[in-house]
Amino acid sequence: MSVQSEVRRLTAPDIRAHKGGEPIVCLTSYHAHTAAIADKHCDVVLVGDSLGMVMHGLETTVPVTLEMMILQGRAVMRGSKRALVVVDMPFGSYEASKEQAFMNCARVLKETGCGAIKVEGGSRMAETIAFLTERGVPVMGHIGLTPQAINVIGSFRAQGREIAEWDRHEADAKAIAEAGAFSIVIEAVAEPLARKITQEIAIPTIGIGASSACDGQVLVMEDMLGLSPRVPKFVKRYGDVALGIDKAIAAYAAEVRSRAFPGPEHVYPMKAKKP
Ligand code: KIV
Repeated sequence: MSVQSEVRRLTAPDIRAHKGGEPIVCLTSYHAHTAAIADKHCDVVLVGDSLGMVMHGLETTVPVTLEMMILQGRAVMRGSKRALVVVDMPFGSYEASKEQAFMNCARVLKETGCGAIKVEGGSRMAETIAFLTERGVPVMGHIGLTPQAINVIGSFRAQGREIAEWDRHEADAKAIAEAGAFSIVIEAVAEPLARKITQEIAIPTIGIGASSACDGQVLVMEDMLGLSPRVPKFVKRYGDVALGIDKAIAAYAAEVRSRAFPGPEHVYPMKAKKP
């Protein structure tokens, strides 16, 4: 007999059903312990390929591998109970063909237990997204600024700030929605364009540097906690964790050097002898 866990995890259809409702709260996490905290407050925890930059200090997300995503995806699944966990497909793991995408997405779903995957790209990904969703892979899209394309676009600049660019981005959003994605991340896009796309498509939009009119918001956890040294304009810092860590490590180093740590309460005394 199977035993159901007490907390029901949100699913891709649950998130899809949020369209036009209460905003969807999404945050990245790559670790079990931060996932457990995010899980208390968020609807979606995204294991973003931003982990390459945030955890590994890479300049871009391009070198991130499927193995890195699976390892951190597992950690986040272990730490969370309720949020829908979405794992990013890294560059090179899904673009060659819809068959390649299915094989690698199936591997991510099986090996992490996550509830959905995310792929970058607009209209060019529509056929692949349809192929995946028809075969049991829930897909979150990602349009606007797509960081995996950095070597083609040249810089992480905001998109859609000229009206001439709008048609392409609107077509991307519609193509992905019609292909069966359950939601779309819109990254670094001019505010009125993100608002318009949100009104035009039937699935939730999740903005990052987009618009408060989006159906939800996502940020990179380390950026909003004040741990990342450099952050884009769209990041609001909700904490200064780097300062807290710096102070704690400085105090630790000083106490080790002065032999104040470990104190008597941190060491094991000998067992008392029996009379
Ligand atoms: O990798 C990531 O963290 C992302 C978010 C910025 C949406 O894709």
